[in-house]
Parts: sequence; C-alpha cells; structure tokens
Amino acid sequence: MTDASTMVEVRVTVNGRAYTRTVEPRLLLSDFLRHELGLTGTHVGCEHGVCGACTILVDEDTARSCLMFVVQADGCAITTVEGLAPSESELSPLQDAFWTAHGLQCGFCTPGILISMEALLRENPSPTDDEIRAGLSGNLCRCTGYQNIVKAVRLASLAPQASDVALTPDPSPTSGRGETGRGLPPLPLVGEGGWGGEGSPGAGS
Ligand code: FES
Ligand code: FES
Repeated sequence: MTDASTMVEVRVTVNGRAYTRTVEPRLLLSDFLRHELGLTGTHVGCEHGVCGACTILVDEDTARSCLMFVVQADGCAITTVEGLAPSESELSPLQDAFWTAHGLQCGFCTPGILISMEALLRENPSPTDDEIRAGLSGNLCRCTGYQNIVKAVRLASLAPQASDVALTPDPSPTSGRGETGRGLPPLPLVGEGGWGGEGSPGAGS
C-alpha cells in the first residue's frame, strides 16, 4: 500500500504538453510514460538498459527511460516517439524514410531507434555510414539485420527537405530500382555504396 506521505509531485513537459502528477519516488520514467500518460510508443524490452527500446529524449539528450525514475525528470522536456510526427496525418522525415526503406520488421525496436537516430541527425545532419552504425550501437534489433535501418537513416540524411513529405501516396508510380516514389532521393541498393560492410551492427550475428 502506498504511503501518501512519500508521494512526490513532478512536473514534466512531454511532446510539448505540460503534465503535473503525484507519483511514488520509485516509479520508473518508462512506466510513467506508458501507464500514467498512455504513451505506449515507448517500448520496454530488457528493463535494465541494454536493448534501447525505451529510448527517449530528455532535454534533447537520449536517455533510457527504464533506467530513470520519473522524479529525476522533474522540470524536464521529454520527447517520445509520439512526438516526432508533425501531425496525426504526417510522418516525420525520419519516420517516412524508415517506411520507404523498410527499416523495420516487427517494429518493437523501432521507437527507440527512431529517437536515437533523430538525436543523431540533429547533432550530425550528414552522418557517414560508420557514424550511423555507431549511433545504432545502443539499440538492439532482432529482426532486420540493421541494413535497412542504416539505409533509412541515410535516406533521411539525404532529404532534409523532406520535412514537407506528407503521409499521402505519390501519384507517380515508382519506375526503377532504388527509386522511392515519395519525393525522396534514389536509394543505393543493399550491397551498393558500402551497405552491408563488416562492422555493421548485427554483422555476424
Ligand atoms: S527496456 Fe530500457 S534499455 Fe531495454
Ligand atoms: S524490427 Fe523487430 S526487433 Fe527490430
């Protein structure tokens, strides 16, 4: 049973919206986001800081929400995967690139990877493939082999102007290899342009 005398008031801004809640000091930030605020896009896999599925932005820095108590985020501005898209009918350029490049399969890792890659691209808008792979090193994906994730991040980095790309079908059908058909630049196929080299996340696993 909760002792009311130990409850703590926290104020956080999540995806631009201010919240004030009274919580137990032991409440994890990941549980707060999912159960108190209903933001279930933040996934919980390992719950001990390994998988990266719970990655969010806290004051613009990436953080494992399973390793933080919500009281530690008091006064902070948090961004979850729900806060990436500009509206309910649009994807962010990075999300759009993941869709276009098939950067996910089951999708369990995807929210954490999107947040990590959003932070990477904000800091380094034109990362090399090695820098993308290094940026992905804190996020585990059991499905994709990472190649299309790297491709998606590369695609997003090539199309900063794609901030205007809406979640609507392109009227002109794709016609050639590597074309996205969604206003994004042509993609190198797997095996071209250095994709799939040694040292990529998941290589050999
Ligand atoms: S659930 Fe937080 S790192 Fe795995
Ligand atoms: S897409 Fe399934 S774990 Fe990454």
